[in-house]
Amino acid sequence: VASNKAPIGIFDSGIGGLTVVKAVMDALPGEDIIYFGDTARVPYGIKSMETVREYGLQITTFLLRKKVKMILIACNTVSAAAEPQIVERAQPVPVLGVVKAGSRAACDVLQPTDKVGVIGTLATVNSGTYEAAIQDINPKMRVFSKACPLLVPLAEEGWTDNEVARKTLEIYLADIKANNLNGLILGCTHYPLFKEPIREVLGNPDIKIIDSAESIAASAKAILVEKNMLNPKEKGNFECYVSDKPQRFQQLAERFLGNTIPRIELVSLEHL
Ligand code: DGL
Repeated sequence: VASNKAPIGIFDSGIGGLTVVKAVMDALPGEDIIYFGDTARVPYGIKSMETVREYGLQITTFLLRKKVKMILIACNTVSAAAEPQIVERAQPVPVLGVVKAGSRAACDVLQPTDKVGVIGTLATVNSGTYEAAIQDINPKMRVFSKACPLLVPLAEEGWTDNEVARKTLEIYLADIKANNLNGLILGCTHYPLFKEPIREVLGNPDIKIIDSAESIAASAKAILVEKNMLNPKEKGNFECYVSDKPQRFQQLAERFLGNTIPRIELVSLEHL
């Protein structure tokens, strides 16, 4: 059994998962975190399920070697494509994915017969995993999904609140708006950066916006409390590993984490 002082492993296809790191740091400030971002192979959202699954399992093995006490799949695409396989590989280390966490949070805040929207990458939406996870909890809930592939590059460019972002959101969210939804799940690591413009474009303050990054941080906290595995430290350490270090890394990291990262270690793909 892992010690409560062991780190939490969090991974993503790239640096978008730093939105999850940020949510976990807020919810669990005493935890040590090891993050892996597969920057050499990002984006995952346009790749096949098989490829995404293989990459997810490689990263899981890397984090297990770091002796983590829990694994959080920050990437919605990996969570949609490979959560059962990763859970099995990691046993007995608990694994949480953003898809189940976001679906659970949506069912908690909405009524069982409500209508909910899910936005994510092409791979996430085509997998149907969010629908399945939501209807597993609430079979009567209606789910409308929409892939919004342009939002990832816009977020990385820092264009989250200008006219291009707004127009793109208006086009992507038109069907969602027309369907009079009660809630919308932000099913991609990059989408929390668009929370405010999304709210404005939807134009209805009654629509509940579910941030899958916050949802997974809350679930992780609940599990650590239940298992008596919280780290008693005041302030946790943050270790960051990537498979490639793009020139704009620090700038992007700041955008997603709200902070610069003092040290980033490069891991070559052969070591995964
Ligand atoms: N991290 C991915 C996700 O949450 C978005 C970026 C990518 O396509 O790899 O689905």
